[in-house]
Amino acid sequence: MRLPLVVARGGLRSAVPPLCFSIERPQGEDDMDLQMPSRALDPHRLPRHVLPARYDLRLEPDLDQATFAGIVAIAVDVHQRTSDIVLNAAELDIATACAEAADGSSCEGRIEIEDALEQAHILFRRPLDPGRRTLHLTFNGRLNDKLRGFYRSTYRDTSGTIHRLAATQFEATDARRAFPCWDEPDFKAVFGTTLVVDPTMTAVANTTVMSERVEGGKKVLRYADTIKMSTYLVAFIVGRLEATEPQQVGKTPVRLWAVPGKRQLTPFGLEIAVASLKFFEGYYGIPYPGDKLDLLAIPDFASGAMENLGAITFRETAILVDERRATHAELERVADVVAHENAHMWFGDLVTMSWWNGLWLNEAFATFMEMLAVDAWKPEWKRWETFGVSRAAAFSVDGLWSTRPIEYPVRAPKDADAMFDVLTYEKGASVLRMVEQYLGPTVFRGGVREYLRAHAYGNADTKDLWVSLGKAAKIPVPELMDAWIFQSGYPLVHVGVRENMLWLYQERFTYLADPDAVTTSSSMNISGGRQEQLWQIPIQIRITANGKAETTRLLLKETETHLELPKGLESVLVNEEGHGFYRVDYSPPLMDRLLNNLNALSPIERFNLVNDAWAIAVKGIRPLTGYLDLTARFKSETNKNVWAVLLDSFQTLYRILGSGDRPAFEAFVRDRVGSTAGELGWAPQRGEDDLVKQLRGEMVAAFGKLGNDKATQARAVEAYQAYREDAAAVDPNLLPAIVSILAYTGDAARYEEFFWRFRSAATPQEERRYLFSLAGFRQRELLEQTLAKTINGEIRTQDAPFLVSAVMNNVHGRELAWEFVKTNWDAMDRLFPKQGLRRMCGGITALATRELERDVRDFFSSRKISLGGKTLDQYLEQLRIVVRLKGEEKDLIRYLKPFSWLRQE
Ligand code: BES
Ligand code: ZN
Repeated sequence: MRLPLVVARGGLRSAVPPLCFSIERPQGEDDMDLQMPSRALDPHRLPRHVLPARYDLRLEPDLDQATFAGIVAIAVDVHQRTSDIVLNAAELDIATACAEAADGSSCEGRIEIEDALEQAHILFRRPLDPGRRTLHLTFNGRLNDKLRGFYRSTYRDTSGTIHRLAATQFEATDARRAFPCWDEPDFKAVFGTTLVVDPTMTAVANTTVMSERVEGGKKVLRYADTIKMSTYLVAFIVGRLEATEPQQVGKTPVRLWAVPGKRQLTPFGLEIAVASLKFFEGYYGIPYPGDKLDLLAIPDFASGAMENLGAITFRETAILVDERRATHAELERVADVVAHENAHMWFGDLVTMSWWNGLWLNEAFATFMEMLAVDAWKPEWKRWETFGVSRAAAFSVDGLWSTRPIEYPVRAPKDADAMFDVLTYEKGASVLRMVEQYLGPTVFRGGVREYLRAHAYGNADTKDLWVSLGKAAKIPVPELMDAWIFQSGYPLVHVGVRENMLWLYQERFTYLADPDAVTTSSSMNISGGRQEQLWQIPIQIRITANGKAETTRLLLKETETHLELPKGLESVLVNEEGHGFYRVDYSPPLMDRLLNNLNALSPIERFNLVNDAWAIAVKGIRPLTGYLDLTARFKSETNKNVWAVLLDSFQTLYRILGSGDRPAFEAFVRDRVGSTAGELGWAPQRGEDDLVKQLRGEMVAAFGKLGNDKATQARAVEAYQAYREDAAAVDPNLLPAIVSILAYTGDAARYEEFFWRFRSAATPQEERRYLFSLAGFRQRELLEQTLAKTINGEIRTQDAPFLVSAVMNNVHGRELAWEFVKTNWDAMDRLFPKQGLRRMCGGITALATRELERDVRDFFSSRKISLGGKTLDQYLEQLRIVVRLKGEEKDLIRYLKPFSWLRQE
């Protein structure tokens, strides 16, 4: 399947718009017309005969009453005579509407609300002629508790008093819940905001405060005009927040905000904020587009963070951290999220995708840039190596028949929400990494700069990116890239030797042979399903012969190709350095040669070797027992990512075994893990790097839980005791392991203690660690308590759905959790943020028995539940795959037999 080559609109535009504040880019109106979707085809889209240019917005929230009052004056350009202005509004009570002409004359409009479409019609008795008008609207709304639109968040201070704050979360389609607006990403406009707040409170918006005065006992804050930008990037936060001192990056003051008393948790986040901002200004060659940069920690937050221009919001775990008490993974998470959101200030905020089908232009780029920035900041973290784990996550979903292309049609808001997934983020970023390496980093950066300059303050599509990259690389990019973006799935490259030739053959990788095996909730659209699919695959091969390694590069465009091999062949490694987005299936002799000299492979190459071998075993084209044998070659592996993929596969196998077979499997795990775990011990070595510290934690956890090793469990109790006496006595990287082992072996008293520790934690990471430990106990009564807490108000709704899914992932709690979900679905639907509910359902993929699978399918189909896009189909297909793997149980049990004779000392 090839898409026709389209001449991009942006291609002819070469004038570089000046990058100054609040500039209006002269944008040909026809830009929009070309994109205009037919209303008949898509009633969710707004008509384009009236376009907004600027909003003057005044909002007055009442935190105690949980309400807000608003006034907005929208300067609009009427392009066609009309008596009907259509814009978005949801859960707003619009009281008055009137249109004012340039001469001051005005006429009142009648307001009609179309709830299902979240649209408001302003109807005029006499049609408005083309020209500029100001549309005046007054409205009221409620500060909701669903963590979207304009919502209310609460927190307790140290004395236990509850305080409130108000925050916004507009992406993808929730600005319309805070003020009536043209809530689609390509209706860019300038925003001039005024907030009217309680004088004891602070308020933050996208830009600097221009004026502050007291009026009728209220504080009135007026903010500078924003740049021309999309509605989903508007933000305001009101509460008693405290800021750090600003740090200057060029002209930009950078501050970090949190609720009072968290100052000591800000330095690390601020450091990466400053470092990544500098990095991006250099990489993009364009100054930061805002006038200040605030990063705000919000106690209740649906996702990880949100890239509102100049006022980035975060959940607390993603920005507030105590560097001395956090694990490597927790620090990396903060660095990632901060760098990611900062990257968006250009990719997303300055240049925005035209519509949600192109979300990858925002999110894949931000993810890719996040890696570059963190890698530049702390090269010793080897961020690109760890990125292998993200690429592997994308491979998992993209190996389903129910996957989707990176760019995928979006109509209803629910489908826009469903775009925020591993395909947009991780597959998108992987594909960018592949093309960056193929074109060369400097050429690629040149293309990126050209793209940002050409579309600054505007919108762009994938083909615009191709044009810019093509200019920089001087090659036709669409042929190379279209299949990766517009086609589902990815290739599996079979490699073998015949008559002194190396043969390479590509076909689409899927776990299940037959798409019909997974006909699910909705009709499945198998794009390119059974017909042959091809990709242009940049392949880098390392051929070692007579002790010498040589690299060969080729672009595999056809189904197969072959190349001559040198005499004295020792080994062939395909996907050298691991940047390619494809899997490799070696013939057994080639695989043996690689396994016999694993030291010759880099960590990412070993990672891919294991990951591909596991996927191929799950697919069923090579025996599972062969994979289990392969894992024996990695007993002395020292890379944490390679271990992550090994342990993940063990976890999946553990899930398909009945309880009687688990002890043998535990012995198998001890056999595989024991040597490295023993080698690393419990004490960090002087001068050891952070990655080894993290590995130690993970090996201890695996040995103690999946391996059910009694000595490790006893040692964890001692270590926890030592930690209780002196927090500095234990390396932070060991704490997650210790806590989770103690939960695994713990009783009601331990449960109470951990719950108390969750309530009184000093850092967001510690709070999270103890909260999630509550999903790791094994007793039914304790897991029941955990589930109950998810809907009785004891824990935040930002966390509750993830806790439910964690219990589903616990083999001792999965039945319980599934019953709980079924019984309480309506309450969860009412209480949890939308995306939380969707993520929670990801937990069903762990319900790996035939009976549960049947029940899960019945539930979702009888309740006619949709999770947007293809989300549910994907979860169900993943479940199908593990249940099918359970069909191999007999072989597995036979393989494990000798291990059941191994006894623990
Ligand atoms: N733009 C997203 C936030 C978002 C996510 C809005 C989902 C609407 C729906 C933000 O840039 C983002 O990607 N956040 C990530 C963290 C990031 C480091 C991958 C998140 O929230 O998980
Ligand atoms: Zn993002």
